Amino acid sequence: MGGGIAQTCAQAGFEVVNVDTYEPALSKARANIENLFNKKVAKGTMTEGQKQEILERIRYSTEMKDLREADIIIEAVPERMEIKKEIFRAADEAAKEGAVIVSNTSGLSISEMAAATKRPDKVMGIHFFYPAPVMKLAELIRGIATSEETYQTVREFAVAIGKEVVDCPELPGFIVNRILVPMMNEAAFLVMEGCRPEDVDTAMKLGANHPMGPLELCDFVGIDVMLATMTGLYNGFRDSKYRPCPILENMVKAGHLGRKSGQGFYSYN
Ligand code: CAA
Repeated sequence: MGGGIAQTCAQAGFEVVNVDTYEPALSKARANIENLFNKKVAKGTMTEGQKQEILERIRYSTEMKDLREADIIIEAVPERMEIKKEIFRAADEAAKEGAVIVSNTSGLSISEMAAATKRPDKVMGIHFFYPAPVMKLAELIRGIATSEETYQTVREFAVAIGKEVVDCPELPGFIVNRILVPMMNEAAFLVMEGCRPEDVDTAMKLGANHPMGPLELCDFVGIDVMLATMTGLYNGFRDSKYRPCPILENMVKAGHLGRKSGQGFYSYN
């Protein structure tokens, strides 16, 4: 998600610093965007000049201190609150006065992350969708302490990078994941009950006009991400209607994480 968000911002004309403490993740992000742009150039949807111009707007760094000039910092680390808080504390120390810090969480509490900083009024959520450069929506989430000024800044920024925005309550899953992820979870239950994944996906693509079937989508976003989001809904509302499908748990234990691991509901080898 971090690489996709960096690409989205750079394509809209913003200077971006992509930070990860793990250098191989940065090399991978750089290779991904270059490969994607090479395909676009070959396809004729981007010129070589545009490609170079956008790539030059993205710098890569393993140091948080390289964010000191940033007006907006967007966090996209794994969905674990203790990691989010550590990153928010570090970003708060590195950031200049007045900078806004945003989380791309898909459902965790913005207020809790904000409380780890000395600028809770300047913390907010923007939830992007995968793949971030293609998906038009950005969900905006205010924490309890988010100021009106921060909200307006973040809203203008999201529109400036080409997103349609919706305001969401600070509740697990916000809007899209609260509806989409239980649907994907229900599709996994159908497989547990004996349906073939191909049948479930064909049914939803042709019967509901979805661009991808729910199980294809599970593999696309990652079974681990999907399970974490569903578990977040279950724990957040303490409601059995959000119980994660057991086969998702088995798949994660087996390392069948979808496209990224080569095996999910489908095989990618
Ligand atoms: N990153 C960046 N750009 C990508 C991309 C990626 N991973 N995949 C495709 N693209 C770009 C291509 O470069 C191409 O751009 P150009 O036209 O400029 O060349 C464009 O998207 C279309 O690509 P394709 O023709 O290959 O793909 P497609 O028409 O089959 O569409 C899709 C691909 C957009 C992914 C489509 O299948 C789709 O909309 N799928 C559903 C995606 C979805 O539901 N996402 C939400 C997941 S839930 C989530 O993210 C929330 C969460 O917290 C878990």
